[in-house]
Amino acid sequence: GSRPRVFSGMQPTADSLHLGNYLGALTQWVALQDTADAFYCVVDLHSITADFEPEVLRRRTRVTAAQYLAGGVDPERSTLLVQSHVAAHAELSWVLSCLTGFGEASRMTQFKDKSARIGDDRVGVGLFTYPMLMAADILLYQTDQVPVGEDQRQHLELTRNLAQRFNTRFGQTFVVPEPYIMRSTAKIYDLQQPDKQMSKSIGGNGCLYLLDDPKANAKKIRSAVTDTGREVRFDRAEKPGVSNLMTILSALTGRSVEQVEDDYAGKGYGDLKKDLADVFVEFATPYRDRVQGVVDDVEGLDTVLARGAERARAVANETLAAAYDRVGF
Ligand code: ADP
Ligand code: NA
Repeated sequence: GSRPRVFSGMQPTADSLHLGNYLGALTQWVALQDTADAFYCVVDLHSITADFEPEVLRRRTRVTAAQYLAGGVDPERSTLLVQSHVAAHAELSWVLSCLTGFGEASRMTQFKDKSARIGDDRVGVGLFTYPMLMAADILLYQTDQVPVGEDQRQHLELTRNLAQRFNTRFGQTFVVPEPYIMRSTAKIYDLQQPDKQMSKSIGGNGCLYLLDDPKANAKKIRSAVTDTGREVRFDRAEKPGVSNLMTILSALTGRSVEQVEDDYAGKGYGDLKKDLADVFVEFATPYRDRVQGVVDDVEGLDTVLARGAERARAVANETLAAAYDRVGF
């Protein structure tokens, strides 16, 4: 087709997306559906590279898929799949692992950071081969564009190298994917430490989990760290806390940051926080209800995931068969 193929995924490693995941990834996935043939994946195979509990993983996989749907991923227009439902991901990742240099994999900064933090004896080999599984995810669907955050750029570069390496050695098999740069305004910072990105690894009062009690989140917003001074002005360097709140208000209301700045001329930080808390509650309350509705409809969600898996397998298995044939299997 003429529409670019897009692939992206999130790990089912929390009971709720946070606002950074939502504005930084999910809303952009939803917008891409207008122009792209998109595959959106719950990457459960990736999530067992860290500590996990089977029943918790099972629940989180479903609630993550439910959040894709509640956020606007349309399973009629896009393919929504759970990674472990499509065996080709694990199969192709083995081939790609055998094409990756040990030194090359050792240079991945995410592995270096995590293994340094966890320690060599506790870190699993799966964390080391994680980028080759990610490469398989992308290459199986002949992906043209990959919406990725900055933290995944190095892994995508490895994916491109592996695709080119395979194509050169065995013959043209994989599309070499391009990064799809997401809107920079969609980077959301921690409410308590606005120099750091909002992240589940920080969690706490600076992180807005969308499925938490909206009132508790409103309180987190009202107690967000702001800066000295009183002018509501967008200035990432001098006013990181206020700028972050303005970015969020802009994203949730569809108003530009300039408009938000105009709206608060002559008003204070307290007005901004109060209004943002209200806007957030208005957004999060129906979102939570939609997610709950999807999760409660067990059969309906099963059906969506089964159809997604079927559609994904049709594409992935064709690519895998071609790759296996070229390798000599
Ligand atoms: P976390 O940092 O909470 O572990 P993930 O690494 O699982 O989040 O990220 C899932 C998706 O959400 C990725 O596409 C990532 O780029 C995006 N994302 C995560 N945190 C933010 C943030 N604070 N602002 C914008 N996008 C984010
Ligand atoms: Na992250």
